[in-house]
Amino acid sequence: MNDALTWGRHYLMVEPNHFRVDYAINPFMHLDDQPDPIRAREQWLGLVAAIEAAGGTVEVLPQLPDAPDMVYAMNLGLALEETDGHGSRVVLSHMRYPQRRMETPEADTWFAGHGFARRGIGRDGVGAHFEAGDAFAWRGELVVGYGPRTEELALKHLATDLGVSVRGIRITHPGMYHMDIGFCPLDESRAMVCPAAYDEASAAALLALVPEPLVLTEEEGLAFCANSIVIGRTVLMPACSDRVRAQLEEWGFDVVVVEVGEFLKGGGAVRCMTNPLDVRLGRDLALTGSRVLLP
Ligand code: ARG
Repeated sequence: MNDALTWGRHYLMVEPNHFRVDYAINPFMHLDDQPDPIRAREQWLGLVAAIEAAGGTVEVLPQLPDAPDMVYAMNLGLALEETDGHGSRVVLSHMRYPQRRMETPEADTWFAGHGFARRGIGRDGVGAHFEAGDAFAWRGELVVGYGPRTEELALKHLATDLGVSVRGIRITHPGMYHMDIGFCPLDESRAMVCPAAYDEASAAALLALVPEPLVLTEEEGLAFCANSIVIGRTVLMPACSDRVRAQLEEWGFDVVVVEVGEFLKGGGAVRCMTNPLDVRLGRDLALTGSRVLLP
């Protein structure tokens, strides 16, 4: 059995008190297909329960009334715990669309109150955009998708601010607009990868990075199969094809499908709704010095 991920047991989530589809900034959002608030709450509680049953813990931040997308907590920022006693820090998102920018000051307040030093890349639409749903610490590097949301320039800022290696992957599929829709690390050598999300060079670079990839079809990608989280050997998924389930089980994972259909109406699922707070700088992300690697 491969080494399990060292992170993914402690999450920040936003309670869906004001979850709506008020605008359409991705191809899944339709103003005439609103989430049902009661079902959304039940599904959200179901996800919290599934995380806890798998051995994880959840911190809860209330949702701002005028921030209907805030339930996708992954985009609040890239949180990093430090190993060397210097405390934790977070790189706050600088959202591509103005409709989500009011979430950042709220995230700033929450992270400040929990002892995180806060950093940002650009502000109020000026400077590079960075959305944390595009970033994964994996195998020592920060793998960052760019294109639809995060801008290429943000990769340099991340590398310089954190002193790490940033691996840029160019996203071209409009329906897989965040890295966490086409990519999901499973353990230290396996990951789900949907090559249809990226341009040819980036898909090849990403596949080359993963010793044992579970390659997803475009259809599986668009069903949010990769928008999953892994707690030890448990994979919490919004959807899973028989083929993907068979491969995960063969590798020794327990597959738990969690119903989050109301949240798919905003274009997000399990990973988008959860922000890991236990990724460590120096352990999960190596302090290699600043570099940006592009395909
Ligand atoms: N409606 C949100 C948006 O378009 C969905 C965010 C999904 N989050 C994610 N980490 N993929 O920004």
